[in-house]
Amino acid sequence: MSVKIGVIIGSIRDGRQGETVAKWFLNEANKIKASDVTLELVDLKSFDLPLIGLNPSETQLNDLKRWQETMSNLDGYVLVTPEYNHVVPGSLTNAFQLLKPEVANKALAFVGYGFLGAARAIVGFRAELAYQQIALVQQQLNISFNVDYKDFGTPNQEFTPGAYHLVEIETLMNQLTNWTKALKLVREHKI
Ligand SMILES: Cc1cc2nc3c(=O)[nH]c(=O)nc-3n(C[C@H](O)[C@H](O)[C@H](O)COP(=O)(O)O)c2cc1C
Repeated sequence: MSVKIGVIIGSIRDGRQGETVAKWFLNEANKIKASDVTLELVDLKSFDLPLIGLNPSETQLNDLKRWQETMSNLDGYVLVTPEYNHVVPGSLTNAFQLLKPEVANKALAFVGYGFLGAARAIVGFRAELAYQQIALVQQQLNISFNVDYKDFGTPNQEFTPGAYHLVEIETLMNQLTNWTKALKLVREHKI
């Protein structure tokens, strides 16, 4: 069964780290994914989304439709997220609150990055996304600024992710692929 999984860059901040982490994950996951799985990058920054509850401008309305269509056309997700004040960015919460049927009965895995791998933010966001009928796989990546970077925060900063993350990526992709395929059958009313 062929499925499409989106790797979402969850930060929209200028100069974000998220792009580096997401592209590294995509590259590593592409090496080990099953042949019937397609991975594609989804950049939240490319959507000018309205704040939920406020009237969207014409551009925002078009981008909202494009965001909903993009998420609807995917069967599963890897969410690459930072941690701001121990939660995910408000822009990311807002982006998911603009979705409901588009993400229901689909699976999602987390790749967090931060001083503690965005662990606290992911715990919190799991509770929110569970309410949207998203199936959240157990394996996650917690990329640490202290361990997985050289000289973080200095001009010599370098992303040097530990080799143990490759084992985590394999487990994550297995869990995510299995649930993504199972839930596709659920959406097609086959089980
Ligand atoms: C408003 C704000 C709050 C932050 N709070 C945290 C935090 O709670 N935990 C953490 O590990 N890092 C925190 N940071 C540091 C971020 O992890 C760091 O800036 C990271 O690069 C953010 O990801 P991004 O560059 O992809 O946006 C915070 C950064 C900002 C801008």
